[in-house]
Amino acid sequence: TTYIRDLYKKGSDLEDQEIVVSGWIRTSRASKTFGFIELNDGTYFKNVQIVYDENLSNFEAVSKLSIASAIIIQGKLVLTPDAKQPFEILATTIEVEGESTPEYPLQKKRHTMEYLRTIAHLRPRSNTFSAVFRVRSVAAYAIHKFFQDRGFVYVHTPIITGSDAEGAGQMFRVTTMDLENLPMSDNGQLDVAEDFFGKETNLTVSGQLEAETFALAFRDVYTFGPTFRAENSNTKRHAAEFWMIEPEIAFADLNDNMDLAEDMVKYIIDYVLEQCPEEMKFFNERIDKGLLDRLTHVLSSDFVRVTYTEAVEALKNSGETFEFPVFWGADLQTEHERYLTEVIYKKPVFVTDYPKEIKSFYMRMNADQKTVAAMDLLVPGIGELIGGSQREERYDLLLNRIHEMGLQEEDYWWYLELRKFGGTRHAGYGLGFERMIMYLTGMGNIRDVVPFPRTVKNAEF
Ligand code: 4AD
Ligand code: MG
Repeated sequence: TTYIRDLYKKGSDLEDQEIVVSGWIRTSRASKTFGFIELNDGTYFKNVQIVYDENLSNFEAVSKLSIASAIIIQGKLVLTPDAKQPFEILATTIEVEGESTPEYPLQKKRHTMEYLRTIAHLRPRSNTFSAVFRVRSVAAYAIHKFFQDRGFVYVHTPIITGSDAEGAGQMFRVTTMDLENLPMSDNGQLDVAEDFFGKETNLTVSGQLEAETFALAFRDVYTFGPTFRAENSNTKRHAAEFWMIEPEIAFADLNDNMDLAEDMVKYIIDYVLEQCPEEMKFFNERIDKGLLDRLTHVLSSDFVRVTYTEAVEALKNSGETFEFPVFWGADLQTEHERYLTEVIYKKPVFVTDYPKEIKSFYMRMNADQKTVAAMDLLVPGIGELIGGSQREERYDLLLNRIHEMGLQEEDYWWYLELRKFGGTRHAGYGLGFERMIMYLTGMGNIRDVVPFPRTVKNAEF
């Protein structure tokens, strides 16, 4: 069997050759004596046209096949230089492997994204989602390739953990308790000691703390895995389950961290543009008109680097009225982030050195004692794509922050020990994989870049 991907690669080399292709009918039309099928076999974004006529032994049956039917075609490849497609296949036999019915929900007309979410088991067969999920796969590979080519070690951090990596309390609890027979102690309280064979546990919000242990052994490491946030935010950019890439580098500071992030983002864009030209053309035409220009511009420009203090000044001086007020000390909201990157700077922007109060306990305290060595990468259309920092490597300062934030020292004993035994400068960041896919494709909702999204009230599939 020849894959359609290879037909497009080899094209005229296969002229007049007998070949076999198999796939699913995308469209079909037939007259009394001949018929046309647009076939997609999943290996390529484009379809191939199958032409057949009444000499086909099962002509009647084939001409009545519904969209989505699975068929195997034997035939001859003929070049059609004047047609829309460079070639077509003249079928000599068409074998029906699996019929479909007229109730198949993905008919030719365009459907809304909302509707397609209700048929998550079928939507990968549509053009849009076929493009999204191939880009997702290629981008994942690009990320591994970027880090592996640079000698980074890929570390698998745990999904079930006993510590809160962000200290923000947004965790899903994991329990082995029999929920029908909850163990109550005498005072009627839940006996949580039963939680995970005796330990209170949750789904990870980030693999960062564990990745730091590996960075202090392997120097340059990264994670790439699922993370979970029990935040009840119903936005287009938040999911309860999302994938995160978290590099961690030793003997490195915040500038090294920004350099790495900038190189990585550019590498992913470049790789996807090169590997998925048909999909990217489709997004540019059908989903987001300026996409290709914007992405190619990103490749050739330096990202802006400003401090939080400068960003707040720029927002205040913009004369724009925001829903959330802008003042030094306030966290930047999505509207501020988008204004900075879409209106003021018009390209990706690193904002650094945030007030310590609005950032996590592990970020390195700056000399001013007010800000920490944090960095967020903001991009047009999305807002925050990456969050990272230089880590606090000084034992006393870290312990102080753990106490200040009301966290339990016992939960972080091993993390603290890293600072006792050869602690070094180190830094890292987290890239939200779904947000990167939104950025690459122009898709406007995180629900449409995850195969089976886990967002508020969404766990049917
Ligand atoms: O800024 P965050 O919370 O940072 C961390 O988790 C750090 N431990 C990362 C590190 O330094 N190693 O999350 C990092 C990124 C965000 O910039 C965003 O792109 C994405 O993860 N993200 C989400 N994506 C989808 N849905 C959510 N609920 C997300 N929360 C964060
Ligand atoms: Mg963040």
